[in-house]
Amino acid sequence: MWINPLRDPADRRLPRIAGPSGLVIFGVTGDLSRKKLMPAIYDLANRGLLPPGFSLVGFARRDWEDEDFAQVVHDSVKEHSRTPFREEVWQQLAKGMRFIQGEFVDDAAFDKLRSTIEELDKEQGTGGNFAFYLSVPPKFFPQVVRQLKDHGLADPPKGSWRRAVIEKPFGHDLASAQELNKVVHEVFPRDEVFRIDHYLGKETVQNILALRFANSMFEPIWNRGYVDHVQITMAEDIGIGGRAGYYDGIGAARDVIQNHLLQLMALTAMEEPASFHPKALVTEKLKVLTSVKIPDDLGKHTVRGQYAHGFQGGEEVPGYLEEEGIDPKSKTDTYAAIKLEINNRRWAGVPFYLRTGKRLGRRVTEIAVVFQRAPYLPFDAAATEELGQNALVIRVQPDEGVTVRFGSKVPGTSMEVRDVTMDFAYGESFTESSPEAYERLILDVLLGDANLFPRHQEVEESWRILDPIEKYWDAHGKPAQYESGTWGPAAADEMLARDGRSWRRP
Ligand code: BG6
Repeated sequence: MWINPLRDPADRRLPRIAGPSGLVIFGVTGDLSRKKLMPAIYDLANRGLLPPGFSLVGFARRDWEDEDFAQVVHDSVKEHSRTPFREEVWQQLAKGMRFIQGEFVDDAAFDKLRSTIEELDKEQGTGGNFAFYLSVPPKFFPQVVRQLKDHGLADPPKGSWRRAVIEKPFGHDLASAQELNKVVHEVFPRDEVFRIDHYLGKETVQNILALRFANSMFEPIWNRGYVDHVQITMAEDIGIGGRAGYYDGIGAARDVIQNHLLQLMALTAMEEPASFHPKALVTEKLKVLTSVKIPDDLGKHTVRGQYAHGFQGGEEVPGYLEEEGIDPKSKTDTYAAIKLEINNRRWAGVPFYLRTGKRLGRRVTEIAVVFQRAPYLPFDAAATEELGQNALVIRVQPDEGVTVRFGSKVPGTSMEVRDVTMDFAYGESFTESSPEAYERLILDVLLGDANLFPRHQEVEESWRILDPIEKYWDAHGKPAQYESGTWGPAAADEMLARDGRSWRRP
């Protein structure tokens, strides 16, 4: 392989730019593709991070010509891209767009895909390097992967690469995830499989590692000696939108806790990695996941809920069971809260409370590390009535940043201590806006950088944590209803109250 001597990887002035390559998207007519993937590709091109001959191949059932496909990409880019639309960038990108019509069982379509890729290599200089993005319902994963193998698409021509990118959900329990890993690994080498957890592509999530391991003031108190508990919240104000087919039967815990929230927990709790090499990171994250202890009494320490009719942002919204395409007897959770512990020397006895829900008060994702109270307060009791617990809150989104909460004397003639906050906001400290998670992740796939992708063991360990909880829920009752626009079922508040704690109002 030719190495450009002027590109020193240590030189931060030079952006990381993908080499000659193309991306094939299966399920290209879907929501994710239109709202996230296509705009991200345009934004990458607009930032000059894609090679000039970059090619995008769409594969779907629709009866489209290349031009129809290009028009759909055009519209989705215009509507959803982060950076301004520039005609010359678009024209360049459009040159490499192709569409293949077909079903996943259709051998002729896969033959056509193969010849299209070979043509692109000649016309666009893609060099045989292609990533296959499976943005399709999980039941099709094995079939698509096998078709890629049977049609020689998974075998890279000499000196090039072929990669598989797999969207979540990666299985619906441990057994199905293991089965899926087996199928994928039979076709693609392990290092060429990229499982998407888009939370890892978020700047604020990557910053957890910088905050903890680039600084000296947090790590000494980041343990059971000082931390009382940790709350990880991912709240959404939206309902399930048009995703009934995907969501019903899956629910909040499988959709979000199994992946995003357990990854946030692993990054918050892990030891310092030996390096930023993917293997070193995965080693530390896995140690956390394998040390997780689920509560003995799942009835007391887990809660699930389902949104009921209510008002959100002044608008009347239907309950989950009234949503189009949902079985009115569905027991699917749209809210889930669980208490976990991590059995190791750093964290033993410190609860990690994880919660997520749709149609909650507002959209916010945050990690709150709540510290113990001072062992002794040399003040009159009345002076500290308004003093809460110290906390460090990582605001993943929106209003990205970090807040530290601590007590301060209220100015005046008497001693009165009240909570105040100290704030770091991305918007104030940095001039550039953060790239979308999918921009970073697609670029990393093209560069072959696996750092921000969960490995198969992590996915399996996460199911190992969730499986018994889902099983318990299956066998016991149904989710409690909560009014849309509120903060979830009362049982979730009771769950924390039993431990003498309460949820933060983010
Ligand atoms: C996805 C879930 O992984 O994350 C969705 O499947 C959810 O249900 C989405 O809405 C939220 O992503 P973000 O980046 O808006 O927090």
